Amino acid sequence: MPEPSRPPGCRYTEDARLDARNTFGVAARAPLLVEIADAAALPAVLADPALRDDALLVLGGGSNLLFAGDAPGPVLALETRGMRVLADHGDFAIVRADAGASWDAFVRWTLSQGLAGLENLALIPGTVGAAPIQNIGAYGTEVRERIHVVEAFERDAGELRRMAPDRCAFAYRDSAFKREPDRYVVTAVEFALPRTPALRLDYAGIGEELAAMGVAGTPTPTQVADAVSRIRRRKLPDPAVLGNAGSFFKNPVVPAAQAEALQADDPSMPAFRGDDPATRKLSAAWLIDRCGWKGQRDGAAGVAASHALVLVNHGGATGAQLLGLARRIAASVQARFGVAIEPEPRIVGDRW
Ligand code: EPU
Repeated sequence: MPEPSRPPGCRYTEDARLDARNTFGVAARAPLLVEIADAAALPAVLADPALRDDALLVLGGGSNLLFAGDAPGPVLALETRGMRVLADHGDFAIVRADAGASWDAFVRWTLSQGLAGLENLALIPGTVGAAPIQNIGAYGTEVRERIHVVEAFERDAGELRRMAPDRCAFAYRDSAFKREPDRYVVTAVEFALPRTPALRLDYAGIGEELAAMGVAGTPTPTQVADAVSRIRRRKLPDPAVLGNAGSFFKNPVVPAAQAEALQADDPSMPAFRGDDPATRKLSAAWLIDRCGWKGQRDGAAGVAASHALVLVNHGGATGAQLLGLARRIAASVQARFGVAIEPEPRIVGDRW
């Protein structure tokens, strides 16, 4: 069969290395890597029989996945990075960024436009396209609160969809895109951002950090982003220095009665209200810390010394070793507290 014609603006690499495309920095390969610089080429690329594969993996910044083995099928990377103001309504604006744009660069760009709302999400690794997939969140804000439209290509239908937040099934670190990873490719995200900020400074540590920065009175959104970035730099290892994927486990949600029973045993255990009032969200970091894992190592795979929720690659760890460590951590939390914890990143090449 003749090679199908390949659309312009795309680069095809066979037997590609993915080591530099995952923030854990583990070795992994893909049978085919397609890098797309123009989203308009996406329908033609996905119509290529080589990419109709069910095992197609769409890669963002590689900051929320663990290659426990090689990618089983082709890998697609969107390299589109545009950002622009679509409509300025005075007190708020609609802005749009392409899926491949760096999330933190986008947050800083919105602030430079005088727009607020994303300051608590500064310095989260990854791309704009990945943000709605796991509904990124930090310091009391989730990205779903600011999303206007997620633009996504629905693979089976071969159509571009514009999805309002109520169609995205957003929940804590979850969305329709995460639940059905083979159905959509997120191509761009639009946000509604206010010019007059309603700042959220109540999350532990932000007020103290602003004070340490010498900020008196009401801070600007940029100062809040700076404070958040300082806290993150201190608590979370920089993936460029020590391979990691941020929080490796989601905070578990349990029935309120179970949380109360655990707190009766140890009143220092943190518990927060879940989305459903009959539930409590526990701190996975605290549970793991109590099991003695913080700073532990098993060869090159380890738990960060600065935060119990972060698994790290000290250099040369394989994805399988990191997954093995994660399973042992989860088993010890289950044995000691009777609580199941689950990974936040997507596991490729194996199952949880
Ligand atoms: N804690 C410990 N030991 C530790 C770290 C934390 O016991 O080593 C306890 C403390 O009691 C602390 C509590 O855990 O008060 C919560 O810690 P933290 O404020 O760091 O928040 P987290 O629940 O561990 C979540 C997100 C982070 C986000 C922070 C800040 C998840 C899975 N993680 O972590 O997101 O940056 O809140 O808002 O929801 C990520 O998703 O990759 C991520 C880094």
